[in-house]
Parts: sequence; structure tokens; C-alpha cells
Amino acid sequence: MNTAHDPLATRAQAGTEDLAARFAKEFGGNPDGIWQAPGRVNLIGEHTDYNEGFVLPFAIDRTARVAVKVRPDASVRLLSTFGDQGVVTATLGSLRPGSAKGWTKYPLGVMWALRERGIDVPGMDLLLDSNVPLGAGLSSSHAIECAVISALNDLTGAGLEAEEMVLATQRAENDFVGAPTGIMDQSASLRGSEGHAVFLDCRDQNVRLVPFETRPADLVMLVIDTKVSHSHADGGYASRRASCELGAEVMGVKALRDVQVGDLAEAAGLLDEVTFRRVRHVVTENDRVLQTVELLAGEGPAAIGPLLDASHASMRDDFEISCPELDLAVETSRASGAIGARMTGGGFGGAAIALTPVGLEQAVRDAVVKAFADAGYKVPDIFTVSPAAGARRIA
Ligand code: GLA
Repeated sequence: MNTAHDPLATRAQAGTEDLAARFAKEFGGNPDGIWQAPGRVNLIGEHTDYNEGFVLPFAIDRTARVAVKVRPDASVRLLSTFGDQGVVTATLGSLRPGSAKGWTKYPLGVMWALRERGIDVPGMDLLLDSNVPLGAGLSSSHAIECAVISALNDLTGAGLEAEEMVLATQRAENDFVGAPTGIMDQSASLRGSEGHAVFLDCRDQNVRLVPFETRPADLVMLVIDTKVSHSHADGGYASRRASCELGAEVMGVKALRDVQVGDLAEAAGLLDEVTFRRVRHVVTENDRVLQTVELLAGEGPAAIGPLLDASHASMRDDFEISCPELDLAVETSRASGAIGARMTGGGFGGAAIALTPVGLEQAVRDAVVKAFADAGYKVPDIFTVSPAAGARRIA
């Protein structure tokens, strides 16, 4: 999502009763139910998903919530608690890629994708509330899509499995919204679990939940939202994806997942310099995900700092998707006590994560705020996250 002003950055989330009351006031009557889906932080494994590789994200305790009531006709009325668009009306039969604007692209994209699958989507009134910051690299758009698809899966009785919902939301993003993204974000949002990271093999959607809790290790996971807004429908994400596809083609493999660290010397001889660096990022990042999973099972979270740092360096230097604000957030948190830090998400803005000893949390916060002020950057929003439950019905 791309927005200059982010009203969600610090807002509290409406409770289910408040949301139902607001729904009744705006649309009349009670909603049929309320569904919620979380944003995500990616612990490690960036730009590996569309290369059929490995990722290790976790769902966070910030969510999008939708109150939905089925209508007897084919029209859709949408309202959010944060936007200034007022009630937006659409007709199911006239949904086309490019036909929606602002946050309504996400729910309407899901309705469109389900209809494309032959699911009989009913007209509905829908009220959205969210406290996942927009454009911060925490998958605010997927949180909305996953809340909506969970609601529609229940309300239509379609009985889609999580894997199918993942593909339908990907279709909504790729073809309706126009962002050529992979399957990581919606997998974390739909399949996340409290106290766990989601180890996902993006080739076959196999998931293993990996215990990941920072508190018992006297650590906190800080998110530093740089307030540099980004959109994956802009060109940078697509051009990285194209480089990866070129790299795989020249290397003669189905996807970069099939290239190992030991193949990189050969790759250097076959690829142009830029494509080689893009490939090296993906290949080494896949390896770092596997190492992280192993370390978490053995030594625990305190051991993964160097892998987070190496991941950031690879994105900054080889994949070139960082920005000065993200680099400053990472460097400053490391210098003031974090044991590992990296940008998280698609890049070109958004957020960094910093794995920080409990006693140093305030020092890291203060140092980052000061460094941003000294550099003339926007005031960053800094908060802690922990692995939370995935999408579900809450009322
Ligand atoms: C965005 C996309 C994901 C993934 C990440 C980069 O979040 O939505 O599919 O590609 O970027 O790891």
C-alpha cells in the first residue's frame, strides 16, 4: 500500500462490539460475523518466495478486521474506519482489474478472484478496521485480503483450504491490484500461530511451525517503521523478479530454488554482473533461512543475529532494495545493542526489525530516533511485535 499519511500507525483497534455498533449505524442491522487477519513480519527469507524457495515469517499482533453482512442483491458497499473515501459502492459483475481505488482494491480484488474461481460471491456490506500500518512492509494489504477471504470462505461455504486461499489472494494481488508478489505474506497471515514462525516451502506450500519466542530468551523484536512508503506495484519489485527469472533461465533451472551456494562460482561465469548479484542474494538467502530454522531448534533466538545482519547486507549490496533510512535503522540499532537487524518485506522503504536484549530496548529506540532526527528523516514509529495467531472468525 502506498499512502502519504498513515492514520493507522499508532491507532488502537476497535473492539468487536464497537465495530458491530459502527456497522449497524452505517449499514443498518447486525453483521453476520467479524473476521480478523494479522499483518506479518518476515524474520528471514526475502524475495525467495517467487523463486520457489524458503521463507520464515510470523503473523503479528496487529490485525485487519472486517464486519460483513450478506445482501440480497449483487451490490457491495464498503467502508473503512480510517479512510476518507466514505462508503464505496461496487457491483460484483462489473469488477475488473484496475476498476478499484485505494484500500477497496484489496477486498474487491478478493471478491473478483473468488468469482474467477467460479465461487458464487454474494453482494455484501463490509466495514473494515485495521491497525496494521499502511505501506510499512508489514503486509497491511494482505491482512485485509486474508480477513476478507476468511469471511467469504465461511459465508459462501466454499470450504477452501488455506493453500487455496493463499493462491486466490495471490491472484487478487497479481491480477487485480497489479503487484507481482509471491505467497509469503498471505501464508503468514492465514497460517500463523502464536509463539511460532511459519517455515514455508514456497515450492509446495508445505508449512512447518517453528517455535519462536523472544521473551524467554530475554529478547524483544523491535519493528522500526521508517515511514518511507513503498508500493510493490511500482517497478522495483517487478524488475528484481525479472532478474531472478532471467538468472534461472540462463542457469537452466526451473527456479532459483534449484541453485545452491556451491553453484555460485559457475553462475558468476554465466551471468552478467548485476544478474549474478541478484541470484547470489536469493541463493544465499535461501541458505540463511535453513540455517535460521536449524539454529532456532538448537540454540534458540539469541543465536540468529549474524544471519539477520548478513541478510540485510545481501539485500543492501546484492539485491539493492534497501534505502538510506532502512540502512540507518539497521546500523543504529546494531550499534546501540541489537544482536541482529535487517530490513523486512519487499524493500524500497517500509520497516526494519531489530532483535534486541530486553534491557537495551529503550537505548535502541532512543538511538534510532536521534539518528533519524540528525539525518533529517521523518520520526520513525518503533514498536515491539511477537508471533500471533493467524486469520480467524472473532464474532
Ligand atoms: C512482499 C511480497 C512477498 C515477498 C516479499 C519479499 O512482501 O508481497 O510476496 O516477495 O515482498 O520477500
